[in-house]
Amino acid sequence: MAIDSTPSRSLMPQPCQLVIFGAAGDLSWRKLLPAVYNLNVDGALPSHFAVVGFGLPAEGSLTSDPDEYLRNRAKNGIQRFSRQPLDESHWNDFARSLFFVPGSFNDARAYAQLKARMESLDQQFGIPGARVYYLAVPPTLVGMCVKQLKEAGLVRPTDEPHAFTRVIVEKPIGNDLDSARQVIANVAHAFDESQTYRIDHYLGKETVQNLLVLRFANSIFEPLWNNKYIDHVQITVSEEEGLVQYDPETGAVTGTRVGYYEGVGALRDMLQNHMLQVLCVVAMEPPWSLAPDIVRDAKSGVLNCLRPLTLTDIDRNVIRGQYIEGDMHGRRVPGYRKEVRDSFAAIGKPLPQESVNSTTETFVAMKLFIDNWRWSGVPFYLRTGKRLPKRASEVAIQFKDVPQVLFNQNPEVPLEPTVLSLRVQPEEGMAMRIASKLPGPKVRIYPVQMEFNYSASLGGTPPEAYERLILDVMAGDATLFLRRDAVETSWKFVMPILDHWKNSRVRDLPEYQCGTWGPIEADRIIVPDGRCWRTL
Ligand code: BG6
Repeated sequence: MAIDSTPSRSLMPQPCQLVIFGAAGDLSWRKLLPAVYNLNVDGALPSHFAVVGFGLPAEGSLTSDPDEYLRNRAKNGIQRFSRQPLDESHWNDFARSLFFVPGSFNDARAYAQLKARMESLDQQFGIPGARVYYLAVPPTLVGMCVKQLKEAGLVRPTDEPHAFTRVIVEKPIGNDLDSARQVIANVAHAFDESQTYRIDHYLGKETVQNLLVLRFANSIFEPLWNNKYIDHVQITVSEEEGLVQYDPETGAVTGTRVGYYEGVGALRDMLQNHMLQVLCVVAMEPPWSLAPDIVRDAKSGVLNCLRPLTLTDIDRNVIRGQYIEGDMHGRRVPGYRKEVRDSFAAIGKPLPQESVNSTTETFVAMKLFIDNWRWSGVPFYLRTGKRLPKRASEVAIQFKDVPQVLFNQNPEVPLEPTVLSLRVQPEEGMAMRIASKLPGPKVRIYPVQMEFNYSASLGGTPPEAYERLILDVMAGDATLFLRRDAVETSWKFVMPILDHWKNSRVRDLPEYQCGTWGPIEADRIIVPDGRCWRTL
């Protein structure tokens, strides 16, 4: 029997309009619209609900009926990316709640049109004026959008329970500490902190939430979850995709994220946010309740204890790399610098000087320490990269070796340590590697895996992170969202690395071929410690 531990304060998603800024963009197409469609299929949406897209589609793509434009785009995104396949009857129902207002984010008239449209949809759908604004726009546009929203009278005060106004701010929140503070301040001019939901979709992943359950709903793990029993922790987020998609037949660029990624790199894109957040969930102290701020306090406790990095630490313990041409699944794929050149050529723009020999890192690995009582002396190794051999994200907790007596007497062939590995994605689940005796008269010891697999044990694939997070905002639950202090503390931690890299002005980064596990230099931060990167 499943025990429902949902906090009693949990609210149901409330009737509202979800207004997606940047609805013509990539995130909306791949993730947001498919997520809302899945919520519709699962019957999880509020009874009175509509989606309004806002923004400017690419030139020539807007049809004469803007609502039709969004519906076509949503249908295409659902067909390609949805967790559950498109079903015509659900689709027809969902499509009736999709609308689009074309307009530029800095045009006050467009906001007036948006306002008029939302008011008429309130009437049509019986919605009491409640709004969730999803800012799926680059950080540089966030300030403009919230300012315009406020000036158009589209932000209501906090204390209207059924006619609430909430804003979701997508990552990246800034590009460094100063710009993050600026984004936070801009949003704060229009929205109270209690109305602000800063998203890090890794926190919405079922497997990341399950980490809390694993730690605090099982009595066997928590007593071992400290420096007395844990040797080290590895967190890996490995991605197969590069930054550009090519047509396999013609070789033409069919999609590119270079415009966003170039100059940003893996440290800002993945480590500063997703990976540090996962680290927080792995390492936090037990919160004394599931109330949003109590959980967020516990996570902030980890960020506040990260040992600041000196220049020597950065040189020794932070390794970046960039992929060069290589083979992936029998196919030759280009290196990052070629992808950058091809992307600019595809849009007919000259390659900026700083991108000619780009030093944007597509891989980063680091060793860090958490200076508190629980984790003192335990290294955490983090690595993430694009164009690695496979898509695989995991948290691996390696326990200390058993004493060198009994079964572990031969220092030449030590026993393999116990490892608890939590697979974040894909094949969501966990495994525990333990030593076992091979059957027979001899005492031969062999590592075996105890396995738990989500889909095999619980059926189906877990919902996408965005599904859960959008519902939480409609319910007013901020537990899985970033408080401003968490955003700032994470940036403070990585800033010395960014500054040092900027000042060192290297001309070439350590290279790795596409389809390999990153630059060989990454071994430097783990092998001298007598450990090695896990093979996934
Ligand atoms: C995004 C990054 O935040 O997360 C992308 O900008 C990355 O570069 C993506 O590919 C990974 O998310 P997921 O859910 O596919 O692991």
